[in-house]
Amino acid sequence: MPDLAGKVGLVTGCASGIGAATVRRFVADGARVLGTDLDAARGAALCEALGARFAQQDVADRARWPQVVAQAVEAFGRLDILVNNAGMVSQAGIGDLDDEAMFAAWDKVLAVNLTGTMAGCRAAIAAMRANPGGAKGAIVNIASTTAIAPLPTDVGYSASKAAVRALSKSVATWCAKQGLAIRCNTVIPGATHTGILDAAEVQMPGLIAAVAATSPLNRLADPSETAAAIAFLASDDCPFMTGAEMLVDGAALSIHPGF
Ligand SMILES: NC(=O)c1ccc[n+]([C@@H]2O[C@H](COP(=O)([O-])OP(=O)(O)OC[C@H]3O[C@@H](n4cnc5c(N)ncnc54)[C@H](O)[C@@H]3O)[C@@H](O)[C@H]2O)c1
Repeated sequence: MPDLAGKVGLVTGCASGIGAATVRRFVADGARVLGTDLDAARGAALCEALGARFAQQDVADRARWPQVVAQAVEAFGRLDILVNNAGMVSQAGIGDLDDEAMFAAWDKVLAVNLTGTMAGCRAAIAAMRANPGGAKGAIVNIASTTAIAPLPTDVGYSASKAAVRALSKSVATWCAKQGLAIRCNTVIPGATHTGILDAAEVQMPGLIAAVAATSPLNRLADPSETAAAIAFLASDDCPFMTGAEMLVDGAALSIHPGF
């Protein structure tokens, strides 16, 4: 089990699903955590119950990022881990909407999933460089198997998650070239039983069973399974892992589509 004792982590999208499971896992592993979410009521209640701090944040608001990072540093004295987990879907294929609605949906999902992740990396790196004892940290960005096998029904989500993979590698290699002990890796979840899928099921009945069947395990991931991979990459267990990706997809992308 990864040891996060003494580490300080910031987890976005903490009110639900993978973010909530990550806060739970980090606290269990000994970390002190600041969770953030758009949803202040749910986020604050969850963090309070788990012994974590909470700050309301829209990850797409770039001015808010340095404030949130400063809040973690003020509370705990340093920042060791950032998990860029907050995300949303747009549920629009390339020709599904009129121009006004399509570009609004595209701009929104890119702002949250991609620009929010980039802004988080920037703010976290600034804080991690200033850590007592020298620059050190781990960033974990959350992509999606739709970055590899995109959804025809959601061009913005798929494209934003594909871009997160390249963003993570660029951040990882920039930090390495700068001589900073700040790693950046990506977790690529497959279908995971969270609010995002429950909401999509309402729009597309039968979706949950269909995506569960894409894994040869024939089930969805539990968010705690994704959180376990995040905790490993956030820990110091493998300092040589940076610019890497971990698939947590129940082998959904490992099987020939005919089987
Ligand atoms: N559930 C899946 O099957 C699945 C698969 C692949 C990737 N993912 C990714 O995992 C991450 C977590 O998703 P989840 O499944 O736990 O979804 P979820 O809907 O259960 O949780 C997402 C959380 O992010 C918050 N959020 C949304 N927009 C925000 C914003 N602008 N600023 C701050 N917080 C915001 C929501 O309030 C919510 O609490 C997302 O990046 C998602 O794309 C999920």
